Amino acid sequence: MSYSRLIGTGSYLPKRVLTNAALESLVDTNEQWIIERTGIRTRHLAAEDQDTCDLAEQAARRALDMAQCDVSEIDLIILATTTPDRIFPSTACLLQARLGNHGAMAFDVQAVCSGFIYALSIADQFIKTGTVQRALVVGADIFSRLINWSDRNTCVLFGDGSGAVVLEASRTPGILSSHLHADGAYKELLTAPAKVVQGGLNGDAFTKMQGNEVFKFAVKALSKVVDEALIANQLDMSAIDWLVPHQANIRIITATAKKLKLPMEKVVVTVSEHGNTSAASVPLALDVAVRDGRIQRGDLLLLEAVGGGFTWGAVLLKY
Ligand code: ACO
Repeated sequence: MSYSRLIGTGSYLPKRVLTNAALESLVDTNEQWIIERTGIRTRHLAAEDQDTCDLAEQAARRALDMAQCDVSEIDLIILATTTPDRIFPSTACLLQARLGNHGAMAFDVQAVCSGFIYALSIADQFIKTGTVQRALVVGADIFSRLINWSDRNTCVLFGDGSGAVVLEASRTPGILSSHLHADGAYKELLTAPAKVVQGGLNGDAFTKMQGNEVFKFAVKALSKVVDEALIANQLDMSAIDWLVPHQANIRIITATAKKLKLPMEKVVVTVSEHGNTSAASVPLALDVAVRDGRIQRGDLLLLEAVGGGFTWGAVLLKY
């Protein structure tokens, strides 16, 4: 059996920046509240003519470039998104066509903010069993399109972006383990409940969230799944070089780190500049820390996320 080794990372943020000051003119909120309660200062928004595939393509090209991998060498493309360009074909197939790959397996994964963790774990299963040699795994979302911009409970939290990794089969680690969970009993706490009927949307497609409940669940689930990953590998938290958490809210991140007794110096935090970019959040933070030199070859990384469903999970890997 081989390991899945990360050989390239990439990310992309759309040009338009939305500040907290600009949000003050949209809803009854203020900069101090947003910073204190969420840690978010700015978020990026996709242009009207940009779709999820456009964002995904930028991150994918950067990851392929770092990996020095030609797109023809990729035999699996998984794209995690909650905001696909079309009902079908999958955005993964659209990305495949855009990149010029022919014949690789390609499909989308829908696990909202945990989507990238799910996708990474799925790709790892294919590589471990020898089914594929190289995989492109992308998280991309234009979550701003699922936001009611007059709802202050949600509009301050989200941004748009994309992140990607290239994985390669290797004898050296690699992804050590992944741990995925879901519990649909919580489906109403975070949802965009509309469905497609007769070619149109039936119901409300804007994000509805019971923030407090999501917050409490997130801290509990994330610390539990991180413990699960450590126990599975007989490791102590002190062995971890970097926690790369889902960037939803600085208070969720600090509360989780505190529960795990992990110093914040070992946590990659990008939420203040990116907001919550859903499936893009973890690979975006990962790419930022790889490119600025914080994450070094040989470092032990713990990636985790929680999202609508609820879904949650963690991936432990040697970079
Ligand atoms: N500006 C000003 N006031 C606001 C705003 C706003 N944008 N939003 C809510 N408030 C008000 C509320 O109306 C409430 O007022 P009230 O006391 O008069 O009723 C007050 O602030 C406190 O509201 P709470 O909901 O209790 O505030 P809380 O400290 O829980 O923070 C928040 C709210 C930021 C949404 C928090 O609960 C949170 O981050 N939850 C997690 C949500 C999340 O991350 N979702 C993303 C998807 S899932 C995931 O990625 C984990």
